[in-house]
Amino acid sequence: MSKIVSISNQKGGVGKTTTSINLAAALAAADLKVLLVDLDPQANASSGLGVYVGEGEPDIYRVLTGHTDMKQALRQTAIPSLTLLPSSSDLAALEVELVEGLPSAQRAGLLAQKLAGMRDHFDYIFIDTPPSLGLLTLNALMAADSVLIPMQAEYFAMEGLGQFMNTVELIRTEGLNPSLTIEGVLLCMVDDRTNLSREVSNEVREYFGQLVYETTIPRNVRLGESPSYGKPIILYAIESKGARAYLDLAEEFLRRQDKGA
Ligand SMILES: Nc1ncnc2c1ncn2[C@@H]1O[C@H](COP(=O)(O)OP(=O)(O)OP(=O)(O)O)[C@@H](O)[C@H]1O
Ligand SMILES: [Mg+2]
Repeated sequence: MSKIVSISNQKGGVGKTTTSINLAAALAAADLKVLLVDLDPQANASSGLGVYVGEGEPDIYRVLTGHTDMKQALRQTAIPSLTLLPSSSDLAALEVELVEGLPSAQRAGLLAQKLAGMRDHFDYIFIDTPPSLGLLTLNALMAADSVLIPMQAEYFAMEGLGQFMNTVELIRTEGLNPSLTIEGVLLCMVDDRTNLSREVSNEVREYFGQLVYETTIPRNVRLGESPSYGKPIILYAIESKGARAYLDLAEEFLRRQDKGA
């Protein structure tokens, strides 16, 4: 049975997609079967893996709306054991359509329902979510066993996070997904040379304690470039600091699973 991990933070540009692609790729490179679900209409996780959905082609939008079977929409990536459920800008319409079409409990549980049948086929399923607390993110949090929160080590990093944590808590206590846990908090785009980066890192560790990964992701030019080549960092620049960091993260992620975290 696989574990489903939502990679979420309502704040934009903090490293959600970069972490989704590269943690998924690093685990797949260790021969684990991994599915990456692109749940963002920006489709950055898809293009970052070199996948573009053409007009009328199956994608997550068509799966969620029941127009396509999950299996038809899945794409192989350059890493054999990494599979992608791609997204397209069509997904932006889903929010409106779902709101109009279905009772609320069903609206939020749609992805959970679709992913249930995938658990037998993968070791890990990651969901890359958009920068909002809207219906798409709610679907991810309903489908997930845990949530991994990437944060940028910059001023205002904690802002809005209280609201996000409240939402997670509400999803638990309202019985929507009582067993949802926090997988971990990841500091991204860290520049150890700056006081600010260090201060923010300290603040985040003070607040979240053991939940924060020891591994931090440095700001690294190669990491910024790799999506434009449609490749995860381990295929684009394996010698880079960015690649090293995500391989370390994958190791720490797996160590935590052993501990039952
Ligand atoms: N460690 C890093 N070093 C350098 N550039 C990075 C790093 N992490 C992410 N980036 C770049 O920063 C930008 C934002 O990162 P990313 O897309 O992963 O964030 P996001 O949280 O998914 O954004 P959104 O909220 O829009 O979905 C991207 O251009 C990405 O390539
Ligand atoms: Mg993103």
